[in-house]
Amino acid sequence: MTPKDAAIGPPMSVMFELTHRCPLQCPYCSNPLELERASAELETHTLVRVLDECASFGVLQVHFSGGEPLSRSDLPEIVAHAHGRGLYTNIDTSGVMLDDTALAALQQAGIDHLQISFQDVDEAGCNRVANFPNAFQLKLAAARRVSAAGLPLTLNFVVYHDNIARVPQMIELGLELGAQRIEIANVQYYGWGLINRSRLLPTREELQHATATVEAARVRLKGRLRIDYVVPDYYAQRPKACMGGWAQRLINISPSGKALPCHAAETLPGFTFWNVRDHSLEDIWYHSEAFLRFRGTAWMPEPCRSCERREIDWGGCRCQAFALTGDAARTDPACVLAPDHAVMQAAVAEMDGTQPFVYRGFHNVEKVLKLKNLPTV
Ligand code: SF4
Ligand code: FES
Repeated sequence: MTPKDAAIGPPMSVMFELTHRCPLQCPYCSNPLELERASAELETHTLVRVLDECASFGVLQVHFSGGEPLSRSDLPEIVAHAHGRGLYTNIDTSGVMLDDTALAALQQAGIDHLQISFQDVDEAGCNRVANFPNAFQLKLAAARRVSAAGLPLTLNFVVYHDNIARVPQMIELGLELGAQRIEIANVQYYGWGLINRSRLLPTREELQHATATVEAARVRLKGRLRIDYVVPDYYAQRPKACMGGWAQRLINISPSGKALPCHAAETLPGFTFWNVRDHSLEDIWYHSEAFLRFRGTAWMPEPCRSCERREIDWGGCRCQAFALTGDAARTDPACVLAPDHAVMQAAVAEMDGTQPFVYRGFHNVEKVLKLKNLPTV
């Protein structure tokens, strides 16, 4: 580790994946294939203690996601505690459980921001991908509720082969619902998304069209609506700086309390992830081997080691490198300079929008573990 790496400050954000319970079953979910059961989830008093550690450690923002974070009845209590400790609080929700009572409780708790995800702007498409009847109408109602309450709202539109042509309507819906910001995010292929990759990947032409639409809208709507745009790595020349660099900005806490450098880190073999039940956040951040392993640049192979972008993209995504090459320490194949870049092109060639979805859910865990040739639980 270089002196610069050693001088790293506290994480800017902590993401609490409060639960893997969720009424929806999106086939692109980035949750791990081995979903954690409710009985393993952190208790309220432990979460409160970890939030205290966030505040004293210098963390600025805490995000509550899942699964569906509203599946936890203690969510307002948790938000209120974070707010009371001066932390900026955000909830990532599907919206389907965000009725008047739930929103009022969160507003009273001091929630700063809500992000509601949409599977599609086409009602039937949204309900089909969520595998939940009436999901679209419930989401619309939730977004209207948040806007009417005067709370900052981001809409997150996940895009893939079936809906990428509807990016213009997504932008219009963002305006209509009074969002300050929308995120048009191509599926990232981890967890359940990786299982469904050939079904979900858009074509290069579809992606180029969507990109041009977003760029034009950004100019047209400057000052009215912020549009964040996430492209799939499969058509990229260079990888993204995943998580802003391994263990540099964020700690992700799984429902059972495992502290992870990213949401997909549990897919990597040979790691022991310390649990917040047993270790303080500060101890984990500075001393756990899982956080130190890929922090900075000392671990890098060529071509990253001598590349001028090594402190820009940090060699890309470790989980993607492992998923596609079997070795987390290789250069992310998304990079055209990577020795394994051809695997990205091979994946694109396997694209097949006619396959059935493998829906995310406890009922499908055994099936996907068998598909991946992993031990079943
Ligand atoms: Fe990034 Fe490594 Fe590619 Fe350079 S060689 S652009 S550091 S992934
Ligand atoms: Fe784990 Fe990118 S998702 S490093």
